[in-house]
Amino acid sequence: MGEEIQFRQLLLGGLAVIGEHRGVKVISANQAPDGVASQGDYQVVQTVGGASVHSVADRETFHPVAGPEAEATALYVRQMGLVERAQRAGVAGEEFVIWDVGLGAGGNICTVLRALQGGAARLRVISFERTLAPLEFAITQVDQLPFLRGFDAKLRELTEVGTVGLAELGLAGAWELRVGDFTGLVRDAHAVLPSPDAVLFDAYSPARNPAMWSLPVFAAIRSRVLPGRSAQLATFSRATLVRTALLLAGWFVGSGESIAGKEETTVAATERADLKAPLGRSFLRRAEVSDAAEPLDGGEYRRARLSAELRDRLGRHPQFQEKPALDAGNR
Ligand SMILES: C[S@@+](CC[C@H](N)C(=O)[O-])C[C@H]1O[C@@H](n2cnc3c(N)ncnc32)[C@H](O)[C@@H]1O
Repeated sequence: MGEEIQFRQLLLGGLAVIGEHRGVKVISANQAPDGVASQGDYQVVQTVGGASVHSVADRETFHPVAGPEAEATALYVRQMGLVERAQRAGVAGEEFVIWDVGLGAGGNICTVLRALQGGAARLRVISFERTLAPLEFAITQVDQLPFLRGFDAKLRELTEVGTVGLAELGLAGAWELRVGDFTGLVRDAHAVLPSPDAVLFDAYSPARNPAMWSLPVFAAIRSRVLPGRSAQLATFSRATLVRTALLLAGWFVGSGESIAGKEETTVAATERADLKAPLGRSFLRRAEVSDAAEPLDGGEYRRARLSAELRDRLGRHPQFQEKPALDAGNR
């Protein structure tokens, strides 16, 4: 793969394409031309927040708003209080379980693990991914991708053996890789998965990757949290149909921090008290008039108004039964 890669410096629309893979030219990170690449083609691109990976076939840039480190730090580390929660679990003698959904090029999980280095936690990390192509590409580009530095050897080992220890990274615990379709795995009653404490949910956008953002998938993740455990899930999407799906799947849902001052995000939790800005009744009103509020069902992406049945179920969600002190739903 390496000899097929050429490096160039192109400044286009604020994004510099600094890598080119298999001779495919990226015109702009978010506007790669149709039909120029086959599945498995990736580029290193420069976002405003640093170098990231772009999938030509999927026409998606990983972490396009703020770059990998800033986005993962704001979205997952800070917003889910990962350092403090992992520390508390360590003090209580419990494992802290992180689900890294959509390992991709490893930007999220490397940033999270770097933040947890030196802490007392015993970690169990599960990375889910249907293709190792972006990671394999990224590892060849470690010089261009600062988030991978110090983690590339461990990631290579992970792809080779499937489960690795974390000691060389200054952490305690283990890291597992599950390669395959996450939507099938998480819904498979025979699949054994540890109850997650934190879910980094980073699929492609709902319009491009609808199966991952469906009500059945969010319900399956919720059902994997054992009774008596609390979990949080954070994601970059603020789409109404993602939030209705999470609510109807049994999560409490709040507005998440904006990334780089631009995109608001979403945090879901099994405990309402864990949300800093729970959606209020104004979200219900917005969902009722939205033309894209009906949760996806695992089939094709489609925009639809909330059905009467789901509107009633949403109205009965415990999140909306008492007046919240701060109604964040009008955001
Ligand atoms: C935005 S990228 C993830 C970026 C990654 N978190 C990072 O920090 O580099 C989305 C990833 O989700 C993966 N994905 C999409 N659908 C999937 C599925 N059904 N099962 C498992 N992985 C999936 C894609 O292959 C892709 O690598």
